[in-house]
Amino acid sequence: MSATHASNEEIIGRADINDIEAILAVSNTDVDEVEHIVKDNADAIFTWDYSLARPQLRKLYEKAKVGQWNATTDLPWDQEVDLEKVVSSDQAALQSGLTPDHYVGTVVEKWGKQEWLAFGIDQRRWTLSQFLHGEQGALLCTAKIVETVPWYDAKLYASTQVVDEARHVEVFARYLDEKLGGGFQVNAHLRMLLDDIIEDSRWDMTYLGMQVMVEGLALAAFGFLHQMTEEPLLKQLLRYVMSDEARHVAFGVLSLKEVYDGMTDAEMKDRQEFAFEAAIRMRDRFLSQEVWEKHGVNPRDVVPLVLKDPTRDIFQQMLFSKIVPNCKKLGLLDRNDQWLRRRFEEMNVIQFEDWEDTGSEYIKFELDAQQSDEREPQPVAGD
Ligand SMILES: [Fe+2]
Ligand SMILES: [Fe+2]
Repeated sequence: MSATHASNEEIIGRADINDIEAILAVSNTDVDEVEHIVKDNADAIFTWDYSLARPQLRKLYEKAKVGQWNATTDLPWDQEVDLEKVVSSDQAALQSGLTPDHYVGTVVEKWGKQEWLAFGIDQRRWTLSQFLHGEQGALLCTAKIVETVPWYDAKLYASTQVVDEARHVEVFARYLDEKLGGGFQVNAHLRMLLDDIIEDSRWDMTYLGMQVMVEGLALAAFGFLHQMTEEPLLKQLLRYVMSDEARHVAFGVLSLKEVYDGMTDAEMKDRQEFAFEAAIRMRDRFLSQEVWEKHGVNPRDVVPLVLKDPTRDIFQQMLFSKIVPNCKKLGLLDRNDQWLRRRFEEMNVIQFEDWEDTGSEYIKFELDAQQSDEREPQPVAGD
């Protein structure tokens, strides 16, 4: 007999996953907040077993040590960024499937090129800001994993990830400050998810929430922006960050595989619900409600129209292209009468289940690996 799951209402606070009104009702009202305190509720565990018990994790640790880079000296920070030019060309590359007719009857109807460009610039600031806040979440989570994971090999590896995440926070914060003229506060849906991950007392939940869900989505989102943008500094920055992220997702998948294979249905039920909740929170944040508000638009008027854009729909689905195969590999999709599979079907992302999982894909993302489908950005003169 399989375990009975909680309802949508109990897990995500609303019955219908697509209830836009309910999604938009959650917003960050404390935009001047500087410090945000969360209880981490966990035991710090020493281990006296220093033997090599998990060679795959130790291999990752060795990879991580040689894969280090220095954000200060390895990236072309002298590169000038012409924000208007970059955002216009990225907007053109994106080719929204919506024509101006779609916005008839809303404030946006009257928007010309300039208004859309100004919106696009803030959208870029907002996107990279959420990356930045997510990176800080990863920094705190991996510091927590160093303490809470009972395995020696995993503690060693996680310590390298702490340094990686510090570097990611550093590069996104610097890029926003120096090249984009500042950023946005954390989105409420993202903050809720980060809080949930940090608060959970069970060490594997930090891994599931951060390494598998948040970082799985980040890897896909970074990959998308990296392919799309022609801005050389951002392109290179993302390439470097992705080489680390792919290792991080591998760390999550390799560690959890061992744990989840031995779990009961009732234990797996909690993990399935947590994965579903994380997936919904991440999807909810992509409505970029704060950017619409900043430009004088009520998101309730426009978001339902934006959601009809087929280009956006494909992008939205692609964000789950790493998460779904990884959940499958971990046994999360099909345990308990395929509960998570049904949820991913409703979210329209199940089609990725047989895509490559990220247990070994990190090799392809290494900095010296040949990427046949892209032109590697050249360092600027004097670099
Ligand atoms: Fe990161
Ligand atoms: Fe990461």
